[in-house]
Amino acid sequence: MMRASEARGVRVHVLADSGAVAACAAGIVGRACARAVETRGVFSIALSGGRTPVSLFRRLRNPKPGDVAVDWPRVQVFWSDERCVPPDHPDSNFGLAWRELFSTLSRQPALFRMRGEDAPEAAAAAYEQVVRARVAPRGGETGGLPCLDCVLLGMGGDGHTASLFPGSPALDERLALAAAGPAGASGSSHTRLTLTLPLINAARLCLLMVCGAEKSAVLHRALEVFSEPLLPVQRVRPCPGRLVALVDTAAWRGGA
Ligand code: 6PG
Repeated sequence: MMRASEARGVRVHVLADSGAVAACAAGIVGRACARAVETRGVFSIALSGGRTPVSLFRRLRNPKPGDVAVDWPRVQVFWSDERCVPPDHPDSNFGLAWRELFSTLSRQPALFRMRGEDAPEAAAAAYEQVVRARVAPRGGETGGLPCLDCVLLGMGGDGHTASLFPGSPALDERLALAAAGPAGASGSSHTRLTLTLPLINAARLCLLMVCGAEKSAVLHRALEVFSEPLLPVQRVRPCPGRLVALVDTAAWRGGA
């Protein structure tokens, strides 16, 4: 693993390929889980969608010697975003994680999927209530925002993350913790459900995974150029939590 930079408060690790990104992410998730279970008895993680996390799901399904085991019965699983489709639809982020990981586990976590089959606005409002009911604020502060232990995020070619697309009204949401909205040009055609920035930035750890040479230009813009309007991924600034970016060499170096 080569630590590339601490660009503007973002700890960036450059790894050989998507498999190495997955292995590193699995280690970070496993250690975060162990710490959370030891201190609070539960680990709450929000999974991102798209294809990048698949290698992580597979590593968590088939851990290798030395991997930190995840105590799944002590884990609450949420989603960073979802497409507005039923859970068995091929485009469902929940369906992808179920097929690639959770359907194979002998010891199950508690799964709290976004109900993509319901009316989007109602589904987003309902999901906020689920998160508020299940996830404690940091330090138990009353009235505080729920503090997820880990939020997995990817990044699209337009700099979107979760389902926060450039120009999306959900980007400016200050109160709701989940929102519904249209996918951006780079997203699939489905309406989306997404966690909003107040909840994402309240997390103890945001873990951003970016793989592939096609992401290189937007990755470097996200890390090096802070011009308005900021890219959605640049709005992920957890505080006091941490943002860690795991990128593969192809995304870091581009087509070079
Ligand atoms: C989604 C994701 C989305 C994804 C990026 C990157 O539902 O599509 O949550 O934000 O992380 O689009 O997607 P890939 O990992 O497929 O490149």
